[in-house]
Amino acid sequence: MSARRLLVIPASARTGSLNVQLARHAARTAEAAGWQAQLLDLRSLALPVYDGDLEAAEGVPAGALALQQAIAESTALLVVTPEYNGFPTPLFVNAFDWLSRIQAADGRPAGLASTADKPVGLLSASPGPLGGLRSMNFVRQYLQMAFAMLVVPQQFALGRANEAFDAEGGLADARAAQSVVRVLDALARLVPAGR
Ligand SMILES: Cc1cc2nc3c(=O)[nH]c(=O)nc-3n(C[C@H](O)[C@H](O)[C@H](O)COP(=O)(O)O)c2cc1C
Repeated sequence: MSARRLLVIPASARTGSLNVQLARHAARTAEAAGWQAQLLDLRSLALPVYDGDLEAAEGVPAGALALQQAIAESTALLVVTPEYNGFPTPLFVNAFDWLSRIQAADGRPAGLASTADKPVGLLSASPGPLGGLRSMNFVRQYLQMAFAMLVVPQQFALGRANEAFDAEGGLADARAAQSVVRVLDALARLVPAGR
């Protein structure tokens, strides 16, 4: 039976990013639970800020097609997002806005066809006490309403994230680690093994 494939998307690409650390921790936890987990670096997609004139002149950039491909090959997504002024990062929203512009062509489905009905879990990390909770709630609405994704109700915001990781990159607090497991378990319940 093939493993479920989890595409883990940190919405920050910053060196030392707390959300990348949380994403790595979650990926390791998922692997231990039988998932095949892969981290996607949104910065590596090299997407320009969305610009309708650029799209008209050059079409959708290759990085958006790479994002679509990675999503199509996954069973489920885990988005790990910081909070910028209560909102998700431009890095994340820009990538998904470009994705939404992909039209069906040459046997390739539209960007929105690749996201429809795909299960997603949400995590967030911030040095602040609320751990990026507000940002996650916007991401939930964005992915559900615009991308028709199945965002599981369970989510986890890691507050004081700058103090949360041990030397091995694990979550020092067992309750925090268990909250990540709860989100992964919710995803696993949505996707039958082997899909
Ligand atoms: C433009 C900007 C706005 C921010 N706004 C918030 C905020 O609303 N709430 C919060 O908890 N942290 C906020 N922060 C702090 C981030 O949570 C912090 O920089 C965090 O480390 C970013 O995530 P990263 O470490 O994964 O890059 C903000 C940071 C930036 C750069």
